[in-house]
Amino acid sequence: MGDTAKINIGGKDIESPVLKGTIGPDVIDIRKLYGQTGAFTYDPGFTSTASCESAITYIDGDEGVLLHRGYPIGQLAEQSSFMEVCYLLLNGELPNADELTKFESTITRHTMVHEQLASFFNGFRRDAHPMAVMTGVVGALSAFYHDSTDISDPVQRRISAHRLIAKIPTIAAMAYKYSVGQPFVYPDNKLSYAGNFLKMTFGVPAEEYQVIPAVEKAMDRIFILHADHEQNASTSTVRLAGSSGANPFACIAAGIACLWGPAHGGANEACLNMLREIGTPDKIPHYIERAKDKNDPFRLMGFGHRVYKNYDPRATVMQQTLREVFEALNVQDPLFETAIRLEELALSDPYFKEKKLFPNVDFYSGIILSAIGFPTTMFTVLFALARTVGWVAQWNEMISDPGQKIGRPRQLYTGPVQRDYVPVDKR
Ligand code: SDX
Repeated sequence: MGDTAKINIGGKDIESPVLKGTIGPDVIDIRKLYGQTGAFTYDPGFTSTASCESAITYIDGDEGVLLHRGYPIGQLAEQSSFMEVCYLLLNGELPNADELTKFESTITRHTMVHEQLASFFNGFRRDAHPMAVMTGVVGALSAFYHDSTDISDPVQRRISAHRLIAKIPTIAAMAYKYSVGQPFVYPDNKLSYAGNFLKMTFGVPAEEYQVIPAVEKAMDRIFILHADHEQNASTSTVRLAGSSGANPFACIAAGIACLWGPAHGGANEACLNMLREIGTPDKIPHYIERAKDKNDPFRLMGFGHRVYKNYDPRATVMQQTLREVFEALNVQDPLFETAIRLEELALSDPYFKEKKLFPNVDFYSGIILSAIGFPTTMFTVLFALARTVGWVAQWNEMISDPGQKIGRPRQLYTGPVQRDYVPVDKR
């Protein structure tokens, strides 16, 4: 018998097994606790709760380590490609040359969307937030692909995964085009995944579009940095939606909706808006004081993380990528200096040091995306584009688990006890 955790409740001694992973914290298996004690555990923000077993991504928040199927994010960002990382997340191993070529070809040949899907955009106002459009249009995909929504069939799950990874850049680019009143640009199978996305977004039928290699590489790396991240809020949303047997397109749409929140994927948009509000470095101390003020709802967007209590390794790569993009495009942005200064002042402030608040993936991403030409409202769309592979890989891992059950949390009830109805003339 392995380790056990002893709990004494209501005078009863209960022993729960302790389960060990390959690395990371042990877990106390409390699946039988309610049956044994009549009590629930209570953890509203899941700060101490493992919701599932997974072999896809591992984060060591204290050490600032992020592994995808065991490979460190820094090595993948430096040496791999987003297509290769997609294959790795979906299949568990890096592809050989033939496997990679076949995978890229499969994804490339799924990049077009049904022509009818284009008419969905016309129902939105041109100034609709692109995340609202993404949530609606991606959810609508389930109306087009009845041949790949039988989630019990691994072949159909794989086809859905490929369709989602392939079509999400096309839909994201269409959301941008719709917002600026330009015609949709069809995918170009000669281009890489990132290059194709850039052309569909910034190309116009009136002239040739030249992909800038440095921007294409930066885009690909930004996708890698956002691909997956354990059981974050949007991935947990996808898992919970999928646990009911909902089709993968609807589940990914649920993930997009959750990611939109400023505490999650919406932080990249909120961070750039914050940097613009701060403006120049001399205003930073005022905003740092606001962030520390319990009575002020203002927080430093792009700072802090539920898991990382050290520097987010993605932020390190993001800052390095930013410098490369600025050099390649020969651009400067005073907001970069403001961000660097803000990081310096915050990390030297006892408040941020004690609470272990460091820049996260969203702190620098907005500055790069703005330099490439994306409007702020598209930042979270790009996060959703890249995270789709992580959501799909996690969804598939859950659905493939023979022990998978519908997720149905319980609660601590603090409402009224039973009482009788009172007719309105007696109230
Ligand atoms: C992402 O989970 C993931 O993996 C997410 C993600 C992914 O790849 O999927 O990494 C992507 O969502 C990154 C996070 C992006 N969000 C932001 O940058 C928004 C700003 N950050 C905060 O809202 C906050 O840090 C969270 C939401 C990210 C984490 O919040 P927690 O873990 O619930 O921590 P908390 O809110 O309880 O904060 C702990 C303390 C609090 O002070 P006390 O109540 O203990 O006195 O730190 C303070 C907070 O007030 N705090 C901040 C702060 N973040 C936390 N104070 C000022 N500025 C901040 N940014």
